[in-house]
Amino acid sequence: MRPFELIIRMAGFEDRPQRIISDIGKLDFDYVPEKLVHRDGPMQKLFSVLKSSVEESMNQRLAITGSVGTGKSSLSKRFCLDFQEWAGKKGQRVEYAIVNCRTRSTPPSVLLKVLDRFQPNFPDRGFSTAEMLEILRKHLTKDSVHLIVVLDEVNVLVKKSGPDLLYSLSRFDDERVTGSKHSLSLIMVSQQPVNEFLDPATLSTLKRTNLLQLDKYTENELAGIVRQRVELAFHPGTVDDDIIAFIASISSEFGDARFAIEILENSGRMANDDGSDCIGPEHVRAAKAMTYSVVTESKLASLGEQNRLALLGIARMMGKRSFATTGEAEKAYTIVCEEFNQKPRGHTQFWEYLQSLGNLGLIGLSMSGKGMVGKTSIITLPDIPAKALEEKLMELMGSN
Ligand SMILES: Nc1ncnc2c1ncn2[C@@H]1O[C@H](COP(=O)(O)OP(=O)(O)OP(=O)(O)O)[C@@H](O)[C@H]1O
Ligand SMILES: [Mg+2]
Repeated sequence: MRPFELIIRMAGFEDRPQRIISDIGKLDFDYVPEKLVHRDGPMQKLFSVLKSSVEESMNQRLAITGSVGTGKSSLSKRFCLDFQEWAGKKGQRVEYAIVNCRTRSTPPSVLLKVLDRFQPNFPDRGFSTAEMLEILRKHLTKDSVHLIVVLDEVNVLVKKSGPDLLYSLSRFDDERVTGSKHSLSLIMVSQQPVNEFLDPATLSTLKRTNLLQLDKYTENELAGIVRQRVELAFHPGTVDDDIIAFIASISSEFGDARFAIEILENSGRMANDDGSDCIGPEHVRAAKAMTYSVVTESKLASLGEQNRLALLGIARMMGKRSFATTGEAEKAYTIVCEEFNQKPRGHTQFWEYLQSLGNLGLIGLSMSGKGMVGKTSIITLPDIPAKALEEKLMELMGSN
């Protein structure tokens, strides 16, 4: 017996061989399947816009928006990979840089990542944004490259550093000599619609931007996504159709593929730990409870302070009721702000908080039914017990 095995036995662990999941890497969030399920339409739209960047060296711009887990990041990555291959067959060189603006939220840090594609070890200081853009231009010209820059979570960049980089990249080379064989296209990705975080002046300079809105997945689409992962990552015969349908039905409330894949993975782990040879409904139920709390916690942790205050107001109000109007929620938010010595933000901003909480699936938002006046939305809490939500938020805000 090797020393490590000995330690495990002494500690009382039982390291069961994986009988359910065959390839855990295919369930990883960074893994992008060769084909995205039910996303042929958006893929085709990306292709029809960006085709001319290669064929006519035209700089193109596109914005992809949609709520959490609708496949924005995977779509942009899959597209870049496939597009590069398509162009390669035509003897054209396509390069792409995917930048997550949550981790790179200033123009130099974004450009550093882009330049890394052409000049690894480019010094991380000493060059201005304008100089970096000029160096990038030289690389593209010299090697006739068609570059796609994907700015994922672009709203974070704009919030932190303003829209200047978007402006420069979208005007990149507008005045170059005709006949040159390079281009720079921009794909902006965000949960928030672009008109919510870009000022009117920037919006008008970006007005030729093509918009691609990804809808939440339907139950049927989620079933297709789950089925694909079962085929890729599970031993044959371990997940039957009823289980796939059950997972799809649970996740359809959010339309979020990440949530569905996580429930599938957790169900597989539970079945394995149980010594079962397939996933049963009880594994899925248990996985749902577990996944829900993990996903919710990470979403809550990512919220800004004002969003937390807005959600806390809602959670307090919802203890004894099943829905509330936005007006009621705003009052509850004002009271919570007083308690935390914060100045409540205006009506428009409060509406934005509700939108982003809705996009994250932390609240349900729907337009008011008949008989209710004005532009009122109805707020619900999907599946999260109000009390638990309140406790978690209080804990995060450090005053339990
Ligand atoms: N159409 C699809 N087919 C197969 N897998 C998908 C599809 N859409 C999303 N997924 C998977 O779901 C997970 C979440 O997708 P992705 O990260 O692209 O969502 P997103 O819209 O970028 O979410 P967020 O707003 O949180 O960044 C990933 O594991 C991805 O592979
Ligand atoms: Mg994403």
